Amino acid sequence: MAQIVLFENIHPSARAVFEAAGYTDIVTHAAALPPAQLSDALRGAQVAGIRSRTHLDASLLSGNPDLRVVGCFCIGTNQVDLDAAMQRGIPVFNAPFSNTRSVAELVLGEAILLLRRIPEKNARVHLGHWDKSASGAFETRGKTLGIVGYGNIGSQISTLAESLGMRVIYHDVEAKLPLGNARPAGTLNELLEQSDVVTLHVPGGKATEKIMNADTIARMRRGSILINASRGTVVDIQALHAALKSGHLAGAALDVFPTEPKGPDEPLASPLIGMPNVILTPHIGGSTQESQENIGREVAEKLVRFLQAGTTKGAVNFPELPYLEQAGGTRILHVHRNAPGALGTLDNLMAQHGLNIISQTLQTRGQIGYVITDVEGEVNDIVMTTLRDHPITVRCDKL
Ligand code: NAI
Repeated sequence: MAQIVLFENIHPSARAVFEAAGYTDIVTHAAALPPAQLSDALRGAQVAGIRSRTHLDASLLSGNPDLRVVGCFCIGTNQVDLDAAMQRGIPVFNAPFSNTRSVAELVLGEAILLLRRIPEKNARVHLGHWDKSASGAFETRGKTLGIVGYGNIGSQISTLAESLGMRVIYHDVEAKLPLGNARPAGTLNELLEQSDVVTLHVPGGKATEKIMNADTIARMRRGSILINASRGTVVDIQALHAALKSGHLAGAALDVFPTEPKGPDEPLASPLIGMPNVILTPHIGGSTQESQENIGREVAEKLVRFLQAGTTKGAVNFPELPYLEQAGGTRILHVHRNAPGALGTLDNLMAQHGLNIISQTLQTRGQIGYVITDVEGEVNDIVMTTLRDHPITVRCDKL
């Protein structure tokens, strides 16, 4: 049975999934550990479950040869040396979808609040004012929502917004199936020119850096609203500040920033601080109790699938093989250097040891290949040692 070590207070839903699958050797740690303690805590573990503060670098991975698989119970995976893990035959999983709904709900809530000018009105009441004016306050019904990036989150917002009676248009660099009555806007500028509320759901990185800048913000309708819960680099903050000050934009909501504070006591530095028509939140778009529970379940299920069937679908650093029903007495998981003839070499080795292959699936990615082979009967330790010791082999396990 696999020893499973979970760090950083991973939601108990993960443990429940492991236990339901028959794994009871589970150790949990409430926090991330410094490297030396981390290595001790990982000794003998086959499964490591971490969140964003545990760093698994190449030396930690090589110092813990029993480790077979890593689960990042979060979205990001750059706390793990993914290449070093791949080179050691260790797939890494994460939870790309579990907080989609939480982000979508926050964005729609912000759209409603900003269209009604609630942030300003709330601040005024706290300051002792009682202005009952309807000026500048609108319903969402019938307004146009422009979604930039129609992926997991963008498309979820699309269906929720339609249920509020909004008209939805979107822009994506890839062709995307429109959900409900949503329709593609053609270009980004066409979307900006037609939308009452623009919400951004693109990835970060060079390709999307400052796609909302002075020029594109100028294309937005006068009195419209900009929401960014994607990545801080996507919006030119100075340009947004200028557009809010001039009244070109009626409001904005930002959950992400070009530079974010490193800890709870560090204040955000932004020209938008103090603007009454701007909602600022500390990158909590996906942070809800439900999303933590979903993440616990989603990643633990992927880890169990890998442990029980060798499935690597959804791994971020590994050849992806889907769930395959086991066809024989023993399943062999073989990771090898991706070189011509590797599969033939493996099959010859198996044949030399009298193994009869019933089913076999190979997938390669970069420098490695991954083969799931189901063979008749039992496979003894001598054969496993021969397979493991062969120069083409990176890693070999049997289930
Ligand atoms: P996704 O990968 O499912 O969707 C992104 C979409 O953007 C894809 O359809 C892609 O084709 C499209 N795209 C890429 N470049 C584009 C461009 N230049 N113009 C238009 N479309 C473009 O990603 P998902 O899961 O929907 O996440 C979206 C963003 O939200 C990511 O940046 C992610 O990091 C962020 N996020 C923020 C959270 C928060 O707490 N605020 C929580 C979860 C995700």
